[in-house]
Amino acid sequence: MRVAAYGHRHRLHDGALMFPTLSLPPLLPGCDQPAPLQRLDCAWLEQAAVELALLRLDLLDPRWGGNKAFKLAPILAEAQRGAAPGLISLGGAHSNHLHALAAAGQHLGLLTVGLLRGHPQDTPTVRDLARYGMQLHWLGYGGYRQRHQADFWAPWQARYPGFLILEEGGSNLAAAHSCARLVTMIEQQKALLGWSRVDQIWAAAGTGTTLAGLALGAASGQQVVGALAVPPDHGVSAQLQRLLQAAGGPHATFPRLIDASRGGFARIDAELARFMQAFEQETGVALEPLYTGKLLLALRDALQRGEIRPGTRIVAVHSGGLQGRRALQARLQHLARA
Ligand SMILES: Cc1ncc(COP(=O)(O)O)c(C=O)c1O
Repeated sequence: MRVAAYGHRHRLHDGALMFPTLSLPPLLPGCDQPAPLQRLDCAWLEQAAVELALLRLDLLDPRWGGNKAFKLAPILAEAQRGAAPGLISLGGAHSNHLHALAAAGQHLGLLTVGLLRGHPQDTPTVRDLARYGMQLHWLGYGGYRQRHQADFWAPWQARYPGFLILEEGGSNLAAAHSCARLVTMIEQQKALLGWSRVDQIWAAAGTGTTLAGLALGAASGQQVVGALAVPPDHGVSAQLQRLLQAAGGPHATFPRLIDASRGGFARIDAELARFMQAFEQETGVALEPLYTGKLLLALRDALQRGEIRPGTRIVAVHSGGLQGRRALQARLQHLARA
C-alpha cells in the first residue's frame, strides 16, 4: 500500500504543533472553510458549570462531511498525483467511510471499489454507494474476517491494478496528520466564543485515527479524550499507539480513552435514544447513535459523575455520520418512546 506522509510539522513557542495549510493536500469542495465552533446551552452543562462547544464538521458538505473529509484528503490527493485509476476500501452496509469515499471518488473522477461485510443488503447507504458509482463486492462474514491476513489484498490488486488500498475506516498516518488541523480550526475560533483556552477536546473513536490527529495537534496542557464507539478490546489503543509512534518527533500526550460503546459497536438502547432526542430538542443539533450520540452521552455521564472540574472548557468534535442514521431512525424513535 502506498501512503504518503504529509505535513511538515512546526513547533510553536507554546509547544503546540501546527500544520501549515499549504503543506496539506487540498480538501474537498465545501471543506476548505473552517467548520463552525458552536457553543451549547444545556441544563446538564449548566449544572456542572462546564462550557462546551461543538466543532460542527457535520455542517461541511453532507456527501463527505464530518471527519471523513480530513481522513480521506491525503489519499485522494495521492491518487490524483500518482494518476491512480481509483481506490479500494472496506466497510459495512452503513459505513460512513465508504459513503464519503464513494462520493469523493465520483466528484474527483476516481473509480472506487467497496468490499462489504456480510451478504447483500439494501440500505440507504448501499443505495448511495451504487448511485455514486462504487463497484460493490459482498465478502460474506467469513470473507470479511480475513481482511487482516497477509494475502488478503493480492486478488483485489490483481483485479484492480494500480488502485490504492485504503484500510478499514480509512486509518493511516497521513489521515491522522490531516486530522491534526482540526485543532488549528478550534484554536483559530476559540476567541469568537470569548475563550482564551480550550482545556479538553473530546472525539468519538472507531479506529482512533481522528483522535491520533487531535493528539498530534493538541497544545501543551490540552487534554484529548476519546469516547470509544467500539469495546475497549477492539484495538483502538494499540492503533493509536502505532499511529503516534509512526508520527515520530516530539511525543504527543496519549489521549484518555473512555468506553462509550454501551456494550458493543452499533448497539443502541433506550437511554441513548432518549438522550439524543432531548439533546436535539435542546440544542437543535442532530446526532447519530454510533459515534456522536455515544460521545455526548459519555461526556454528560462523566460530568454527572463529577469527573470534570467546574470552569473547564471543552470542545467536542461533531464528526458527522448522519447519513448512517437513516436506517436506524425508526428504531431510535421506538426506543425513545419505550
Ligand atoms: C461519524 C464518525 N465519527 C467518528 C468516527 C471515528 O473515527 P476514527 O476511525 O478516526 O476513530 C467514525 C468512523 O470512522 C465516524 O463515522
